[in-house]
Amino acid sequence: MVKQATLLADFDEAYSCFKSNYPDFERFETLRHKEYARLDAGGHIYLDYTGGGLYAQKQLDQHFTLLKEGVFGNPHSINPSSSASTKLVEQCREDILNYFKASPKDYAVIFTPNASGALKLVAESYPFCPDGHYLLSFDNHNSVLGIREYARAKGARLDYVPLDVPDLTMNEAELDRLLGSSPASAEKLFAYPAQSNFSGVKHSLDYIAKAQAEGWDVFLDAAAFVPTNPLDLSQYKPDFVGVSFYKMFGYPTGIGCLLARRDSLKKLKRPWFAGGTITLSSVMGQRHWLAEGSEGFEDGTVNYLMIPAVSLGLNHLKSLGIEKIQEHVNQLGGWLLEQLCRLRHANGQPLIRLYGPCNMKKRGATFSMNFYDASDTLMDHRQIEQIASDRGMSLRTGCFCNPGTGESAFGFEQSEIDTCFAQPKPRLTIDDLRVCVDGKSSGAVRVSLGLASHFKDVYAFAAFAREFLS
Ligand SMILES: Cc1ncc(COP(=O)(O)O)c(C=O)c1O
Repeated sequence: MVKQATLLADFDEAYSCFKSNYPDFERFETLRHKEYARLDAGGHIYLDYTGGGLYAQKQLDQHFTLLKEGVFGNPHSINPSSSASTKLVEQCREDILNYFKASPKDYAVIFTPNASGALKLVAESYPFCPDGHYLLSFDNHNSVLGIREYARAKGARLDYVPLDVPDLTMNEAELDRLLGSSPASAEKLFAYPAQSNFSGVKHSLDYIAKAQAEGWDVFLDAAAFVPTNPLDLSQYKPDFVGVSFYKMFGYPTGIGCLLARRDSLKKLKRPWFAGGTITLSSVMGQRHWLAEGSEGFEDGTVNYLMIPAVSLGLNHLKSLGIEKIQEHVNQLGGWLLEQLCRLRHANGQPLIRLYGPCNMKKRGATFSMNFYDASDTLMDHRQIEQIASDRGMSLRTGCFCNPGTGESAFGFEQSEIDTCFAQPKPRLTIDDLRVCVDGKSSGAVRVSLGLASHFKDVYAFAAFAREFLS
């Protein structure tokens, strides 16, 4: 049998064919040369945009000019340097609202260190109670799963919406059943990712209104979605949205935000107060009054030197157009998907087991997979990462802080997990789990694309994968 791998055309031929089907590619090619030249200068094949986006040269230049020319003080005051900071911080809130088409009447922007910080603010303040309910899809990031510890501690009910295998989309019948399974008046929170950081599956944003119609508050984890997709908060109105800005445009790190509907924010009861969050506190009086809106949720001094760089990053995305970025990663992702799904060993066995849909309709350009040899034996993803790293390729392996997707995709049995977790050890690790699910994968290889991705990146990965054929 002829190896399917030989179907991969040589680079020039494949590249010119790709470009002829996607005329807009030229714009992104120019962008890559101008703003991301360091990738090619250093011979990097960067394939971890879901881990972290990359910044354009101009974002740094503009931010450093701002810092070099301005004098910025702590914003909690009215002196000139303080006012200069306050102005930029407030401008950035406005820019974020504009970017997501959110009305300032409806939504508040609360700066956090990252998406996890946004999730934790809601986790610790949501009024879970014994009549309450926390519902979440199986494919959430650990930072969303972690909310369950607050829900459990306050006696709320906890349920997961399972995934349909192999597509790893949410099981809609179960979603409907669970959404309808607790009283309308209960305090109940439903959380799901707009795009899974493991499988790349895009879940319908219509679930937001569906859940709200049943009396749920909805936390939309948009961290892996917004770097390559538009989120229009005038159309979809989740109660809470969490994002990390470094995932959207690489710089700055250390800043995310919680976008919260003002009505829903009133529901949250903060477990403490801090500098910057109160209108008054007293030692003698033993009381404090929390400030309204975002102020009551931003502990201490916000990252006022870095926040202006968020505005610059948003400008960068706007200048490209998020719909164009979406199209760009869809084109590159579609090409890669087709190549990967074709790869078969000489005996006909597929090389790759891809987790999630085999076409771009319900997914973004994040692809998780495992490699199998000709006798259908799993190849260790850690070894694949090592070989890729030796070639200057940055990809990600493991479970990507998203254990539920792995458990669904790899076919773990409840009994395997129970046996594993019953071990009398002070601390279990992924290696312990690996032993319990002998023969099954405990992790995967993930490649993900972003606005600076080039055809040469996806081609390099397709060629790399081909080397594992026998
Ligand atoms: C879907 C999703 N949610 C939440 C997070 C947490 O983001 P951070 O680590 O920036 O808090 C991530 C990070 O990868 C993610 O992909």
